[in-house]
Amino acid sequence: MTKKIYIFDTTLRDGEQTPGVSLNPQEKLEIAKQLESLGVDVIEAGFPRASNGDFEAVKLISQNIKKSVVTALARCNKGDIDRAYEAIKYAPKKRIHVFLATSDIHMKYKLNMTEDQVLEKATNMVTYAKTLVEDVEFSAEDGSRTRKEFLYKILESVIDAGAKVVNIPDTVGYSIPAEYGELIKGVKENVKNIDKAIISIHCHNDLGLAVANSLAAIENGAEQVECAINGLGERAGNASLEEVAMALKTRKDCYSNETNICSEKIYRVSKLVSHFTGITVQPNKAIVGANAFSHESGIHQDGVLKNRETYEIMTAESVGFSTNNMVLGKHSGSHAFEDRLITLGYNLEKERVMEAFKKFKDLADRKKEISDRDIEALVNQGVVPIEDVYKLINFNVTTGNNIESTATVKIEYNKVEKIEAACGDGPVNALYNALERAIDIKPELKDYSIKAITSGTDALGEVSVKLTLKDKTVLGIGVSTDVIEASLLAYMNALNKLN
Ligand code: KIV
Ligand code: ZN
Repeated sequence: MTKKIYIFDTTLRDGEQTPGVSLNPQEKLEIAKQLESLGVDVIEAGFPRASNGDFEAVKLISQNIKKSVVTALARCNKGDIDRAYEAIKYAPKKRIHVFLATSDIHMKYKLNMTEDQVLEKATNMVTYAKTLVEDVEFSAEDGSRTRKEFLYKILESVIDAGAKVVNIPDTVGYSIPAEYGELIKGVKENVKNIDKAIISIHCHNDLGLAVANSLAAIENGAEQVECAINGLGERAGNASLEEVAMALKTRKDCYSNETNICSEKIYRVSKLVSHFTGITVQPNKAIVGANAFSHESGIHQDGVLKNRETYEIMTAESVGFSTNNMVLGKHSGSHAFEDRLITLGYNLEKERVMEAFKKFKDLADRKKEISDRDIEALVNQGVVPIEDVYKLINFNVTTGNNIESTATVKIEYNKVEKIEAACGDGPVNALYNALERAIDIKPELKDYSIKAITSGTDALGEVSVKLTLKDKTVLGIGVSTDVIEASLLAYMNALNKLN
């Protein structure tokens, strides 16, 4: 019999706990919309008590997402639960997700509580959350290292208190598949009222086993899988949504399941998340890595040409990779461009299409052939428009191997033009020094990285810059065929986000 597996996405909560990742509410909303269109059942939008920014983002998402359940995380205390409720209350489908650690090591050293105290607190707080919403999930943090009899007891108690979903996380990624599968089987067999709740799993990837553990749990009765796009998450990350979804789809013969995921939209969401978080997907990453569907060896290529199933277990199209080899160029019109955007999974308003088309035309003057990767790099930039408080007017750099680099930069800020010059250790450093003189804030440059979008000397360069001001960190992106210009645009983009 086919079983429904619920996909719970935690990119915006656990995924945002990836070191160095910080998303603003508009970016989170854009990701949430893409997740909804991908077909995820539950979107964990954040942890509202953690910060005002998180609260605002969850609220915005709950005001805009209609089809997926919107949930927010809360510790087992009334303050957290109230704050979570205040943020999710606008969503037509809402859930409060409360958690409390249940393993000996966490109870003793982190919570300084006994089993009885933890049991009482978890039960009371699920009861309290139920007064606010119908749908409550309880997570037994560090569930995989919890004494089994205690795990059964606390799950039974929270289900009695009204929890609709009980989650048994492998919080520290310590489990191995056979053991984790057995744990879920044990929960199914020993928790008396388990038929009144959905068993959920949440696996971390510290041993690289998060997806394997999730699948073993599904084989043993788990019905909800918590995962994140590109496998983002605390430390080594969570189970990657795309890998779980495609394993379930490709090996339906083993898992006889059904999910709501529209797999053709996977690649687009992965790209967007990578763009907003600044975390590049490794080329050999399963499902969404650039090499996931390329065949290098002659023997493999020959096999694929004769029958693609010789070396392909799923098609590139099935996860949304465009296999279109047609390139656009300066003679391409707006219709061809818009058509390509639709093929790539973008559904933009007319105004944004025209903005992107203008950027495309500018690029076509510098670059002969424009590929899908170039278009994605150009368009992702404008997905969440930001106000250009700082505008670049022009710049000039002199550099060489035996001279100190010097740069001049002219910007407009609040309708006032400013021009500054500075020296530096290389052209980018000189430019950034000049720019810092022209602005009245002193952000700290935390990170700078550069990559080529495609190959060739006229390739687009994409620069990411991380700036911190007080307690706010933002990621700025700049793209250009000129990497010096891309560097400056990335800095300006980050400045505008800080504003
Ligand atoms: O890893 C974990 O245990 C968690 C819980 C809060 C679900 O993220
Ligand atoms: Zn986690």
